Amino acid sequence: MSTLLVGASGFLGSEVARQAAAAGHAVVGTATTTTGGWVPVDVTDRKAVRALISAVRPKLVINSTWGDWRVSADGAATVAAEAAAVGARLVHVSSDALHAGRPAPYTEDDAPTPVTVYGAAKAAAETAVTAIDPSAVVVRTSLIYGSAQGKQEQLVLGLLDGRQRGVLFTDEIRCPVHVADLAGALLELADSRFAGILNVAGPDAVSRAEFGRLIARAHGRDPSALPTGLSTDAGIGPRPLDVKLDTSLARSVLRTRLRPIAAVPGDRPADV
Ligand SMILES: NC(=O)c1ccc[n+]([C@@H]2O[C@H](COP(=O)([O-])OP(=O)(O)OC[C@H]3O[C@@H](n4cnc5c(N)ncnc54)[C@H](OP(=O)(O)O)[C@@H]3O)[C@@H](O)[C@H]2O)c1
Repeated sequence: MSTLLVGASGFLGSEVARQAAAAGHAVVGTATTTTGGWVPVDVTDRKAVRALISAVRPKLVINSTWGDWRVSADGAATVAAEAAAVGARLVHVSSDALHAGRPAPYTEDDAPTPVTVYGAAKAAAETAVTAIDPSAVVVRTSLIYGSAQGKQEQLVLGLLDGRQRGVLFTDEIRCPVHVADLAGALLELADSRFAGILNVAGPDAVSRAEFGRLIARAHGRDPSALPTGLSTDAGIGPRPLDVKLDTSLARSVLRTRLRPIAAVPGDRPADV
């Protein structure tokens, strides 16, 4: 099966590429440059996306890119349209950041209520992708962790080493997901008849601060050295605060297990 992974050089994309290759897919993975041996493509360049998809003629396209509006929203629409043009199955990666935040967990039926440009772009992408291809899978996910290369790990280790400034918010709640579980879920969904939006996130709701302390502990670092504070005190404008994804549907349709973070005892760095 020929599989095109758009954004294969990314944190999630590289794990999807690893698992897809191990499962026997003929993988073509993209990045914005040739670094790492990936095929370069810019999703904001429609002609380039069309040329790539016409050349590869994939059966499956997984889009795990993000960036500014042109990448996250317009680029997602372009990838969806060009995938549909060759009849490819499409799995699109969305985000919990399209929700505004509230005490009750969000189900797949909850329409986006974005409060940031990133959230709005991810919401626009969902609208475009599902309109272009109603049979596509759109996975809403949360903070992705699982190796020292992850953005969350980089932030925590950077703060501890003084390479990064800022604080970890005590008032932002998320449901972090292990990168290997998420990648496995994307490939399982690709191989299924599932269509539409699915929440795929971990079962534990934790603040960014608590999550950071778990990461610090898993890397043998002192969790109490992490600077923490309120997002609302940071002067960075509105942000989604309490965003918990209800994953009951994912747990009923997926064989892939979404592991708890708090229940991984004696974590090694790769496990957090
Ligand atoms: N990380 C999280 O905690 C998190 C949380 C919720 C949702 N998500 C979603 O999960 C997905 C994967 O996130 P990630 O953390 O793995 O992202 P990442 O590591 O930043 O990777 C982003 C990928 O997008 C590619 N890309 C960026 N601009 C592009 C463009 N103009 N044209 C083509 N490709 C472009 C990058 O290529 P280069 O390597 O060449 O730059 C890279 O392969 C994204 O859709 C994101 O919105 C992530």
